[in-house]
Amino acid sequence: MSRLVLYNIGELVTNAADAPDVIGRHAPGALAVEGRAVVWAGPERDLPWDLAGAETLDCEGRAVVPGFVDAHTHLVFAGDRSGEFGARLGGRSYEDALAGGGGIHHTVEATRAATLEQLRHSAAGRARRMLEHGTTTIEIKSGYGLDTAAEIRSLQAARGVANEVPVNVVTTFLGAHVVPFEFAADREAYVRLVESEMLPAVADLADFCDVFCDRGAFDLVEAYRILTAAKTYGLRPRIHANELGSTGGVQVAIDAGAVSADHLIHLNADEIADLAQAGVVATLLPGTSFSLREPYAPGAALFEAGVTVALGTDCNPGTSYTESMQFVIALAVVQMGLTPEQAVWAATRGGALSLQRPELGWLGPGAAADFVVLDAPSFLHIPYRPATNLVWKVFSSGVQVVG
Ligand code: NIG
Ligand code: FE
Repeated sequence: MSRLVLYNIGELVTNAADAPDVIGRHAPGALAVEGRAVVWAGPERDLPWDLAGAETLDCEGRAVVPGFVDAHTHLVFAGDRSGEFGARLGGRSYEDALAGGGGIHHTVEATRAATLEQLRHSAAGRARRMLEHGTTTIEIKSGYGLDTAAEIRSLQAARGVANEVPVNVVTTFLGAHVVPFEFAADREAYVRLVESEMLPAVADLADFCDVFCDRGAFDLVEAYRILTAAKTYGLRPRIHANELGSTGGVQVAIDAGAVSADHLIHLNADEIADLAQAGVVATLLPGTSFSLREPYAPGAALFEAGVTVALGTDCNPGTSYTESMQFVIALAVVQMGLTPEQAVWAATRGGALSLQRPELGWLGPGAAADFVVLDAPSFLHIPYRPATNLVWKVFSSGVQVVG
């Protein structure tokens, strides 16, 4: 198998030993790839091979980081909600739009009217922009179909993204996003539909099951029921919790054995300790706080308590329409108060742990060869130079796919 060696790496972030491990500027790094996997990473002077004769890439002092893992997205949707964003700038609240039959309901209407091909095409376009910004793994939720056929179509579109864009795709069924309008008078009937018709129908199309457990969406009992039923179909639970209010979703995450609790804007000290104790990953979405002009989740306190923290864009048409994990890292550092090391770790290794993909989000022997060469000497440039795409090249499964 041919070997590719990247050398003269100004700064190499490996996340070896599950902590940010940075081979710094004065000890240039090297990285060797065979096939789809990394075979060696470390200081260049320790490289066990001669560079002469090998296929090489001179990084000319640029930094290399693992490919970003976007651990929470709603990439499959149709329609446009820029008008809702505009109305919010004028003072209307997100929850008002939702309660008034707009918001998520607006996207559901457009998504139900779209074909599989249309959904896959638009989601792949977003995934392509993510890849161009350095993301090599994307979690994609359904949740704008809210009937069995449209939820299946959404998950098929999500899976189809990986055939069009060279990224790893992890899929999540979010049939319990909100109660669709046709069940407004009988929400119990909708919960039963999710449990007994949708879950078996999507079991082979999704890796995880999520529930939006919050004001205006599903309550604690409903969320627990759905996540418990999901496990019987082999879907691992995750949950939208404490985004709009302090609603007790963290306890459901723990009781249902969720892998990850996401958003967590409104969190108290007991809940932080409980997440740490239960080993639930906290997947934080600062793009949502930015777009909704809401407070930021207590990321630094979660790290401090020993919680595994992941980051995601939450890319969706309502609360966070960004495809850039570089922007998310900048927000996590400048607004949420993570250190740059914590933010880059959460955007790579933390995300991989949130998605239970241990081979992703780090660079060392046996890791997937998914990484980004930044057109900058240090990963510090990511938060330092927001809204600039710093990607020089992206490699996915050992193949150069951008640059
Ligand atoms: O993560 N919170 C629920 N779902 C999305 C928003 C969905 C929408 O507004 O379309 C979120 O913020
Ligand atoms: Fe979300």
